[in-house]
Amino acid sequence: MESAIDTHLQCPRTLSRRAGEDYRPPFPVWVARAGEDVTAVVMGYFGVQYRGEEHREEAFAGLRHLVDDFGRPDGPGAWDTTHHRDAAGYDNLIAVGYWRDPETYGRWLARPEIAAWWDADERRTGDLGFFREIVSPRADQFETLYPFTDRLPGVGGVMDGVSDEIEEHAYWGSMRDRIPLSQTDRMRPEGGLSATGDPALGGRVVVRGHDNIALIRSGQDWSEADPEEHALYETEVEPALREAMDFLRDRGQRLGCYSNRYVRYVDLDGRPLDKTYAISHWRSLDKLEQWAETHPSHLRVFVAFVSLARRFPTLRLYHEVSVFDASEQYYEYVNCHPATGLLRDAEAPHEV
Ligand code: HEM
Repeated sequence: MESAIDTHLQCPRTLSRRAGEDYRPPFPVWVARAGEDVTAVVMGYFGVQYRGEEHREEAFAGLRHLVDDFGRPDGPGAWDTTHHRDAAGYDNLIAVGYWRDPETYGRWLARPEIAAWWDADERRTGDLGFFREIVSPRADQFETLYPFTDRLPGVGGVMDGVSDEIEEHAYWGSMRDRIPLSQTDRMRPEGGLSATGDPALGGRVVVRGHDNIALIRSGQDWSEADPEEHALYETEVEPALREAMDFLRDRGQRLGCYSNRYVRYVDLDGRPLDKTYAISHWRSLDKLEQWAETHPSHLRVFVAFVSLARRFPTLRLYHEVSVFDASEQYYEYVNCHPATGLLRDAEAPHEV
């Protein structure tokens, strides 16, 4: 057993762990590990937005274009594609890519064919919207958690391997304790979201983030379940999860949730897979923790799962949580509706 914080990221603490030194967790979980050469990663969520079945084909062509771009030199080391319908009734397809380092991402982004496609005027007109939400946490600004050690999803796909069983889990506050920066920093938010361009007017709007926005990707994979486990997941756990996700999407704002998407993996032809995850942006780690620890919607999912855990031998639940400096976030919305992603809570610029 070892600390979730890799040895090269450990430092003298000025803030204590919530668990005592003799704490031992009741069941094993692991975290992703990467060599010291990984100093920051990039998580790039690239989206296509449409409304109405008549635009579905064009939207999937857009998604395939994004994935083709991932295949160019310096593209991401891992990616996946999802669909979700948002609160305004729009459908959204997202291709998320993970890079092991910002330099490779920067070279990929600067490729003329990629830069020109995003900058083209055609993106601002027509029936589709496009967005990209790019964040780059340093190695000391994110954590992962997997009750399995193979085929790591999400950011785990660009890491080098897994830890030994880790100490910091199965108690509230353990997510924070797994983030290396928590040894010395409370990671408090600073400032608010602001938009350049007017979200209400559409067009091309860039949202400026603030220090210590937190993002969680919390995933569920029941694709390897036999019929009994499959049915149990879909009747006992998924409905509670959906309720929690709808709550955060529709009423999470006052709790500090800027955006919550409950997305389902799809293949490039739109066929759904039995894998979902939440992409959830929060004003701060504190706000995310408060919801997870105290809100009935998460506690219901938690209890639904924990009470039946032994009957889910193949269910793969995992998460990754990151915080970011303001300068390491880029949110751009082109021809999207004004409540898309972080646009909803961004202040439009005031007249001076
Ligand atoms: C922690 C269950 C979905 C946010 C946990 C833990 C469990 C759990 C068992 C404790 C893990 C450990 O430390 O060993 C579930 C189940 C889910 C689910 C069964 C769905 C099927 C979500 C979603 C979110 C979320 C969608 C956010 C949008 C969190 C957070 C923690 C946590 C932030 C860490 C709390 C802390 O360490 O202080 N959850 N969860 N969970 N969950 Fe969930």
